[in-house]
Amino acid sequence: MMSRMILITGLLLLSISVSAEEAVTQTVTAEDIFNTRCTICHQRPEPDMLSPMQWKMILNLMQIRMKQAGMPQLNEKEFEMVQTYLMQKAEQ
Ligand code: HEC
Repeated sequence: MMSRMILITGLLLLSISVSAEEAVTQTVTAEDIFNTRCTICHQRPEPDMLSPMQWKMILNLMQIRMKQAGMPQLNEKEFEMVQTYLMQKAEQ
């Protein structure tokens, strides 16, 4: 009886911690990624300072710069999110 209680409590705790983790990853916005990852080597660029075309080129260049600096690049999802964010905020 006792060991079953422990098992059930353990499973409950496990599922709570898993959903807390999901909640954290889901609330990271493109702006968060931009504000944290694009301010490591220089000041935060203004999203409306470049055109969508220029942002595309710059983002690819920045991936290379991150690799050259030996730091993790934006993964595919992060890249997509930041690119979409910048496309929306770009100089029109
Ligand atoms: C590893 C360091 C590093 C990180 C991280 C980084 N940059 Fe850069 N960034 C540079 C360097 C170095 C330059 C100077 C231009 C060059 O030689 O690439 C630059 C220049 C720029 C410029 C100016 C380009 C111009 O022509 O005036 C913009 C805009 C920019 N980065 C945007 C970003 C964005 C957006 C991110 C995040 C996705 C980012 N950077 C992350 C290193 C970095």
